[in-house]
Amino acid sequence: MILEKGYVVNERYRIEETIGKGGMAVVYKASDIKLDRAVTLKVLKSEYIENEDFIKRFSTEARAAAGLAHTNIVNVYDVGNDGDIYYIVMEYIDGYTLKELICEQAPLDNMLACDIASQIAEGLETAHLNGITHRDIKPENILLTESGGRLVAKVTDFGIAKASTGESSQGDYMGSVHYFSPEQAKGEDVDSRTDIYSLGIVLYEMVTGECPFEGKTPLDFAMKHIKEPIPDPRSVNPKVTRDIIDIIRLACAKEPRNRYEHAIDMADDLRDVMDKSFRSEDRSDKKLPPVSDGYADDIDDDDEDRELQRKCYNNSSNNGHSHNTSHNLRRKAPFKDALRRHHKDTQLRGNEL
Ligand SMILES: Nc1ncnc2c1ncn2[C@@H]1O[C@H](COP(=O)(O)OP(=O)(O)O)[C@@H](O)[C@H]1O
Ligand SMILES: [Mg+2]
Repeated sequence: MILEKGYVVNERYRIEETIGKGGMAVVYKASDIKLDRAVTLKVLKSEYIENEDFIKRFSTEARAAAGLAHTNIVNVYDVGNDGDIYYIVMEYIDGYTLKELICEQAPLDNMLACDIASQIAEGLETAHLNGITHRDIKPENILLTESGGRLVAKVTDFGIAKASTGESSQGDYMGSVHYFSPEQAKGEDVDSRTDIYSLGIVLYEMVTGECPFEGKTPLDFAMKHIKEPIPDPRSVNPKVTRDIIDIIRLACAKEPRNRYEHAIDMADDLRDVMDKSFRSEDRSDKKLPPVSDGYADDIDDDDEDRELQRKCYNNSSNNGHSHNTSHNLRRKAPFKDALRRHHKDTQLRGNEL
Protein backbone atom coordinates (compact mmCIF):
# COMPACT_ATOMS: atom_id res chain seq x y z
CA MET A 1 0.00 0.00 0.00
CA ILE A 2 1.38 3.36 -1.05
CA LEU A 3 -0.07 6.42 0.65
CA GLU A 4 -1.50 8.97 -1.76
CA LYS A 5 -0.25 12.53 -1.99
CA GLY A 6 -2.45 14.65 0.30
CA TYR A 7 -3.28 11.80 2.68
CA VAL A 8 -2.98 12.98 6.30
CA VAL A 9 -1.55 10.57 8.86
CA ASN A 10 -2.74 11.04 12.43
CA GLU A 11 -4.25 14.41 11.54
CA ARG A 12 -0.76 15.84 11.41
CA TYR A 13 1.51 14.56 8.63
CA ARG A 14 0.39 15.28 5.06
CA ILE A 15 2.00 13.04 2.44
CA GLU A 16 3.79 14.99 -0.32
CA GLU A 17 5.73 12.36 -2.31
CA THR A 18 7.43 8.99 -2.11
CA ILE A 19 11.17 9.43 -1.74
CA GLY A 20 12.54 6.02 -1.00
CA LYS A 21 11.97 2.35 -0.37
CA GLY A 22 14.03 0.05 1.76
CA GLY A 23 13.60 -3.52 2.93
CA MET A 24 10.95 -2.82 5.52
CA ALA A 25 9.54 0.61 4.80
CA VAL A 26 8.30 3.12 2.28
CA VAL A 27 9.68 6.58 2.91
CA TYR A 28 7.72 9.77 2.13
CA LYS A 29 8.35 13.43 2.18
CA ALA A 30 5.51 14.90 4.27
CA SER A 31 4.43 18.18 5.85
CA ASP A 32 4.08 18.41 9.58
CA ILE A 33 0.89 20.48 9.68
CA LYS A 34 1.30 21.36 13.35
CA LEU A 35 4.85 22.71 13.10
CA ASP A 36 4.61 23.72 9.44
CA ARG A 37 7.80 22.07 8.31
CA ALA A 38 8.92 19.35 5.92
CA VAL A 39 9.57 15.98 7.53
CA THR A 40 10.30 12.44 6.42
CA LEU A 41 7.74 9.79 7.24
CA LYS A 42 9.02 6.23 7.24
CA VAL A 43 6.06 3.87 7.05
CA LEU A 44 6.25 0.14 7.72
CA LYS A 45 5.36 -1.83 4.57
CA SER A 46 1.87 -3.31 4.76
CA GLU A 47 3.19 -6.88 4.42
CA TYR A 48 4.81 -6.49 7.83
CA ILE A 49 2.01 -4.94 9.86
CA GLU A 50 0.82 -8.34 11.07
CA ASN A 51 4.32 -9.13 12.27
CA GLU A 52 4.89 -8.02 15.83
CA ASP A 53 8.61 -8.39 15.41
CA PHE A 54 8.71 -5.77 12.66
CA ILE A 55 6.49 -3.42 14.63
CA LYS A 56 8.88 -3.81 17.55
CA ARG A 57 11.84 -3.12 15.27
CA PHE A 58 10.18 0.10 14.25
CA SER A 59 9.90 1.41 17.78
CA THR A 60 13.41 0.16 18.52
CA GLU A 61 14.70 2.09 15.53
CA ALA A 62 12.96 5.25 16.62
CA ARG A 63 14.18 4.96 20.19
CA ALA A 64 17.74 4.13 19.18
CA ALA A 65 18.04 7.09 16.85
CA ALA A 66 15.98 9.55 18.90
CA GLY A 67 18.55 9.57 21.68
CA LEU A 68 21.34 10.58 19.32
CA ALA A 69 21.84 14.23 18.52
CA HIS A 70 24.64 14.67 16.03
CA THR A 71 25.11 16.42 12.68
CA ASN A 72 26.02 13.10 11.09
CA ILE A 73 22.95 11.23 12.29
CA VAL A 74 19.44 11.78 10.93
CA ASN A 75 17.29 13.31 13.64
CA VAL A 76 14.21 11.34 14.71
CA TYR A 77 11.24 13.39 15.94
CA ASP A 78 8.37 11.03 16.62
CA VAL A 79 7.07 7.48 16.30
CA GLY A 80 3.50 6.23 16.29
CA ASN A 81 0.70 4.58 14.42
CA ASP A 82 -2.54 5.58 12.82
CA GLY A 83 -4.45 2.31 12.68
CA ASP A 84 -2.33 0.04 10.52
CA ILE A 85 0.02 2.80 9.46
CA TYR A 86 3.12 2.45 11.62
CA TYR A 87 5.45 5.37 11.13
CA ILE A 88 8.59 7.14 12.23
CA VAL A 89 8.90 10.88 11.72
CA MET A 90 12.34 12.27 11.08
CA GLU A 91 14.35 15.12 9.71
CA TYR A 92 13.79 15.61 5.99
CA ILE A 93 17.07 15.34 4.13
CA ASP A 94 17.14 17.11 0.81
CA GLY A 95 19.78 15.18 -1.05
CA TYR A 96 20.81 11.70 -2.08
CA THR A 97 21.91 8.42 -0.66
CA LEU A 98 25.59 7.56 -0.84
CA LYS A 99 24.54 4.62 -3.02
CA GLU A 100 23.22 7.04 -5.61
CA LEU A 101 26.45 9.01 -5.56
CA ILE A 102 28.51 5.84 -5.96
CA CYS A 103 26.34 4.59 -8.83
CA GLU A 104 26.65 7.92 -10.60
CA GLN A 105 30.23 8.91 -9.96
CA ALA A 106 32.39 6.13 -8.52
CA PRO A 107 35.24 5.78 -8.17
CA LEU A 108 34.98 8.85 -5.99
CA ASP A 109 37.86 11.23 -5.57
CA ASN A 110 40.04 10.00 -2.68
CA MET A 111 39.48 13.13 -0.61
CA LEU A 112 35.72 13.11 -1.11
CA ALA A 113 35.64 9.46 -0.02
CA CYS A 114 37.74 10.27 3.08
CA ASP A 115 35.54 13.24 3.90
CA ILE A 116 32.33 11.19 3.67
CA ALA A 117 33.81 8.23 5.56
CA SER A 118 35.13 10.47 8.35
CA GLN A 119 31.70 12.03 8.80
CA ILE A 120 30.06 8.61 8.97
CA ALA A 121 32.69 7.58 11.54
CA GLU A 122 31.89 10.64 13.63
CA GLY A 123 28.18 9.84 13.56
CA LEU A 124 28.96 6.26 14.52
CA GLU A 125 31.17 7.38 17.39
CA THR A 126 28.19 9.21 18.90
CA ALA A 127 25.98 6.15 18.47
CA HIS A 128 28.63 3.91 20.02
CA LEU A 129 29.22 6.26 22.95
CA ASN A 130 25.49 6.00 23.59
CA GLY A 131 25.64 2.22 23.58
CA ILE A 132 24.06 1.79 20.14
CA THR A 133 25.53 -0.41 17.41
CA HIS A 134 23.97 0.33 14.01
CA ARG A 135 24.66 -3.11 12.45
CA ASP A 136 23.57 -2.16 8.92
CA ILE A 137 26.07 0.43 7.68
CA LYS A 138 25.86 0.54 3.88
CA PRO A 139 25.61 3.29 1.26
CA GLU A 140 21.79 3.06 1.08
CA ASN A 141 21.65 4.03 4.74
CA ILE A 142 23.85 7.10 4.37
CA LEU A 143 22.17 10.30 3.23
CA LEU A 144 24.09 13.19 1.70
CA THR A 145 22.98 16.76 1.75
CA GLU A 146 24.40 20.23 1.55
CA SER A 147 24.66 22.46 4.57
CA GLY A 148 26.54 25.72 4.80
CA GLY A 149 28.07 25.02 1.40
CA ARG A 150 29.49 21.72 2.57
CA LEU A 151 28.54 18.16 1.75
CA VAL A 152 27.20 16.54 4.92
CA ALA A 153 26.77 12.79 5.43
CA LYS A 154 24.08 11.50 7.76
CA VAL A 155 23.63 7.99 9.04
CA THR A 156 20.05 6.73 8.98
CA ASP A 157 18.07 3.50 9.33
CA PHE A 158 18.74 2.22 12.82
CA GLY A 159 16.24 -0.53 11.94
CA ILE A 160 18.39 -3.37 13.21
CA ALA A 161 20.39 -1.33 15.68
CA LYS A 162 21.14 -2.92 18.97
CA ALA A 163 21.43 -1.24 22.33
CA SER A 164 24.22 -2.60 24.47
CA THR A 165 21.67 -2.94 27.29
CA GLY A 166 20.39 -5.86 25.22
CA GLU A 167 16.76 -4.90 25.64
CA SER A 168 16.16 -4.57 21.92
CA SER A 169 18.19 -7.51 20.69
CA GLN A 170 17.25 -8.86 17.30
CA GLY A 171 20.02 -11.37 16.91
CA ASP A 172 18.61 -12.89 13.73
CA TYR A 173 19.05 -9.80 11.60
CA MET A 174 22.53 -9.72 10.32
CA GLY A 175 22.82 -6.72 8.04
CA SER A 176 23.43 -6.74 4.31
CA VAL A 177 25.65 -9.41 2.79
CA HIS A 178 28.03 -7.07 0.97
CA TYR A 179 28.81 -5.17 4.15
CA PHE A 180 28.31 -7.50 7.08
CA SER A 181 31.26 -8.27 9.32
CA PRO A 182 32.83 -11.71 9.77
CA GLU A 183 31.26 -11.95 13.23
CA GLN A 184 27.83 -11.06 11.82
CA ALA A 185 28.38 -13.62 9.08
CA LYS A 186 29.10 -16.23 11.73
CA GLY A 187 25.98 -15.25 13.64
CA GLU A 188 28.02 -14.26 16.66
CA ASP A 189 27.37 -11.42 19.07
CA VAL A 190 28.57 -8.14 17.69
CA ASP A 191 29.68 -4.85 19.17
CA SER A 192 30.46 -1.41 17.80
CA ARG A 193 33.45 -2.75 15.86
CA THR A 194 31.06 -4.44 13.42
CA ASP A 195 30.10 -0.94 12.21
CA ILE A 196 33.78 -0.11 11.71
CA TYR A 197 34.19 -3.17 9.48
CA SER A 198 31.14 -2.20 7.38
CA LEU A 199 32.40 1.36 7.09
CA GLY A 200 35.71 -0.02 5.80
CA ILE A 201 33.79 -1.87 3.09
CA VAL A 202 31.86 1.31 2.26
CA LEU A 203 35.16 3.21 1.94
CA TYR A 204 36.46 0.49 -0.39
CA GLU A 205 33.30 0.82 -2.48
CA MET A 206 33.58 4.60 -2.63
CA VAL A 207 37.12 4.54 -3.99
CA THR A 208 36.58 1.65 -6.41
CA GLY A 209 32.88 1.64 -7.30
CA GLU A 210 32.77 -2.04 -6.39
CA CYS A 211 32.25 -4.07 -3.27
CA PRO A 212 35.25 -6.21 -2.36
CA PHE A 213 33.27 -9.45 -2.22
CA GLU A 214 30.63 -10.83 -4.55
CA GLY A 215 28.77 -14.08 -4.27
CA LYS A 216 25.65 -15.95 -5.33
CA THR A 217 24.32 -16.88 -1.92
CA PRO A 218 24.55 -15.37 1.56
CA LEU A 219 26.82 -18.30 2.41
CA ASP A 220 29.25 -17.33 -0.38
CA PHE A 221 29.41 -13.83 1.04
CA ALA A 222 29.76 -15.09 4.58
CA MET A 223 32.70 -17.32 3.67
CA LYS A 224 34.45 -14.47 1.87
CA HIS A 225 34.02 -12.01 4.72
CA ILE A 226 35.28 -14.62 7.15
CA LYS A 227 38.19 -16.01 5.14
CA GLU A 228 39.20 -13.89 2.17
CA PRO A 229 41.44 -10.89 2.40
CA ILE A 230 40.07 -7.59 1.13
CA PRO A 231 41.43 -7.24 -2.43
CA ASP A 232 43.81 -4.40 -3.21
CA PRO A 233 41.58 -1.46 -4.27
CA ARG A 234 44.35 -0.39 -6.66
CA SER A 235 43.59 -3.37 -8.87
CA VAL A 236 40.37 -1.49 -9.64
CA ASN A 237 41.50 2.10 -9.19
CA PRO A 238 45.26 2.72 -9.25
CA LYS A 239 44.72 6.21 -7.82
CA VAL A 240 43.81 4.92 -4.36
CA THR A 241 46.63 5.91 -2.02
CA ARG A 242 48.51 3.71 0.40
CA ASP A 243 47.10 5.66 3.38
CA ILE A 244 43.56 4.86 2.33
CA ILE A 245 44.39 1.22 1.75
CA ASP A 246 45.84 1.05 5.26
CA ILE A 247 42.66 2.54 6.72
CA ILE A 248 40.45 0.08 4.83
CA ARG A 249 42.66 -2.74 5.94
CA LEU A 250 42.63 -1.75 9.58
CA ALA A 251 38.86 -1.19 9.58
CA CYS A 252 38.26 -4.52 7.84
CA ALA A 253 40.51 -6.76 9.94
CA LYS A 254 38.81 -10.13 10.29
CA GLU A 255 39.14 -10.11 14.06
CA PRO A 256 37.37 -7.21 15.80
CA ARG A 257 40.31 -6.81 18.18
CA ASN A 258 42.59 -6.03 15.24
CA ARG A 259 40.36 -3.21 13.98
CA TYR A 260 40.17 0.39 15.07
CA GLU A 261 38.81 0.21 18.56
CA HIS A 262 36.78 3.38 18.19
CA ALA A 263 35.14 4.96 15.17
CA ILE A 264 36.72 8.28 16.14
CA ASP A 265 40.19 6.79 15.62
CA MET A 266 39.21 5.94 12.08
CA ALA A 267 37.81 9.46 11.61
CA ASP A 268 41.13 10.89 12.85
CA ASP A 269 43.14 8.81 10.39
CA LEU A 270 40.84 9.82 7.54
CA ARG A 271 41.22 13.49 8.43
CA ASP A 272 44.99 13.07 8.63
CA VAL A 273 44.98 11.69 5.10
CA MET A 274 42.97 14.71 3.97
CA ASP A 275 45.28 17.16 5.74
CA LYS A 276 48.34 15.46 4.34
CA SER A 277 46.96 15.55 0.86
CA PHE A 278 46.19 19.27 1.13
CA ARG A 279 49.73 19.90 2.28
CA SER A 280 51.45 17.85 -0.35
CA GLU A 281 51.38 18.54 -4.05
CA ASP A 282 53.06 15.29 -4.89
CA ARG A 283 51.06 12.34 -3.69
CA SER A 284 52.18 10.04 -6.45
CA ASP A 285 51.93 6.34 -5.72
CA LYS A 286 55.50 5.94 -6.98
CA LYS A 287 56.75 7.02 -3.57
CA LEU A 288 54.72 4.44 -1.73
CA PRO A 289 56.27 1.20 -0.57
CA PRO A 290 55.58 -1.77 -2.82
CA VAL A 291 52.65 -3.94 -1.91
CA SER A 292 53.65 -7.34 -0.62
CA ASP A 293 51.99 -10.27 -2.36
CA GLY A 294 51.79 -12.23 0.87
CA TYR A 295 48.82 -12.05 3.15
CA ALA A 296 48.78 -12.98 6.76
CA ASP A 297 45.25 -13.64 7.88
CA ASP A 298 44.75 -11.88 11.16
CA ILE A 299 42.29 -14.43 12.49
CA ASP A 300 44.78 -15.88 14.95
CA ASP A 301 47.09 -12.94 14.97
CA ASP A 302 47.45 -10.98 18.18
CA ASP A 303 49.84 -8.49 16.69
CA GLU A 304 48.07 -5.20 16.28
CA ASP A 305 51.05 -3.47 14.80
CA ARG A 306 49.92 -1.43 11.84
CA GLU A 307 53.24 -1.77 10.10
CA LEU A 308 52.79 -5.50 9.98
CA GLN A 309 49.25 -5.17 8.72
CA ARG A 310 50.56 -2.89 6.00
CA LYS A 311 53.13 -5.44 4.90
CA CYS A 312 50.56 -8.19 4.89
CA TYR A 313 48.23 -6.53 2.43
CA ASN A 314 47.04 -8.85 -0.24
CA ASN A 315 47.49 -7.90 -3.85
CA SER A 316 44.98 -10.31 -5.35
CA SER A 317 42.69 -9.10 -8.09
CA ASN A 318 39.11 -8.13 -7.57
CA ASN A 319 36.36 -10.27 -8.97
CA GLY A 320 33.60 -7.90 -7.96
CA HIS A 321 31.30 -6.11 -10.32
CA SER A 322 29.61 -2.78 -10.14
CA HIS A 323 26.12 -2.53 -8.83
CA ASN A 324 23.52 -2.05 -11.48
CA THR A 325 20.83 -0.90 -9.12
CA SER A 326 18.92 1.80 -10.86
CA HIS A 327 18.35 4.84 -8.74
CA ASN A 328 15.96 7.61 -9.16
CA LEU A 329 18.21 10.63 -8.79
CA ARG A 330 16.21 13.27 -7.03
CA ARG A 331 16.81 16.96 -6.53
CA LYS A 332 19.94 17.05 -8.63
CA ALA A 333 20.92 20.71 -8.48
CA PRO A 334 21.81 21.34 -4.82
CA PHE A 335 23.75 18.12 -4.68
CA LYS A 336 25.85 18.93 -7.71
CA ASP A 337 26.57 22.35 -6.22
CA ALA A 338 27.88 20.80 -3.02
CA LEU A 339 30.09 18.43 -4.97
CA ARG A 340 31.41 21.22 -7.14
CA ARG A 341 32.20 23.17 -4.01
CA HIS A 342 33.94 20.19 -2.49
CA HIS A 343 36.22 19.94 -5.50
CA LYS A 344 36.81 23.68 -5.53
CA ASP A 345 37.65 23.74 -1.80
CA THR A 346 40.05 20.90 -2.27
CA GLN A 347 41.80 22.75 -5.06
CA LEU A 348 41.86 26.02 -3.16
CA ARG A 349 43.26 24.48 -0.02
CA GLY A 350 45.82 22.64 -2.12
CA ASN A 351 46.89 25.82 -3.90
CA GLU A 352 47.03 27.89 -0.76
CA LEU A 353 49.72 25.70 0.72
N1 LIG B 1 15.31 11.27 6.51
C1 LIG B 1 15.30 10.99 5.21
N2 LIG B 1 15.29 11.99 4.28
C2 LIG B 1 15.28 11.71 2.97
N3 LIG B 1 15.29 10.46 2.43
C3 LIG B 1 15.29 9.40 3.30
C4 LIG B 1 15.30 9.62 4.72
N4 LIG B 1 15.31 8.43 5.31
C5 LIG B 1 15.30 7.51 4.33
N5 LIG B 1 15.29 8.08 3.11
C6 LIG B 1 15.27 7.36 1.81
O1 LIG B 1 14.50 6.17 1.97
C7 LIG B 1 15.32 5.00 1.77
C8 LIG B 1 14.88 3.90 2.73
O2 LIG B 1 14.98 4.36 4.07
P1 LIG B 1 15.51 3.40 5.23
O3 LIG B 1 15.35 4.13 6.52
O4 LIG B 1 16.88 2.95 4.90
O5 LIG B 1 14.46 2.19 5.13
P2 LIG B 1 14.64 0.61 5.33
O6 LIG B 1 14.69 0.38 6.80
O7 LIG B 1 13.41 0.03 4.72
O8 LIG B 1 15.91 0.23 4.62
C9 LIG B 1 16.75 5.47 1.97
O9 LIG B 1 17.67 4.65 1.28
C10 LIG B 1 16.65 6.89 1.39
O10 LIG B 1 16.66 6.84 -0.02
MG1 LIG C 1 17.79 1.08 4.77
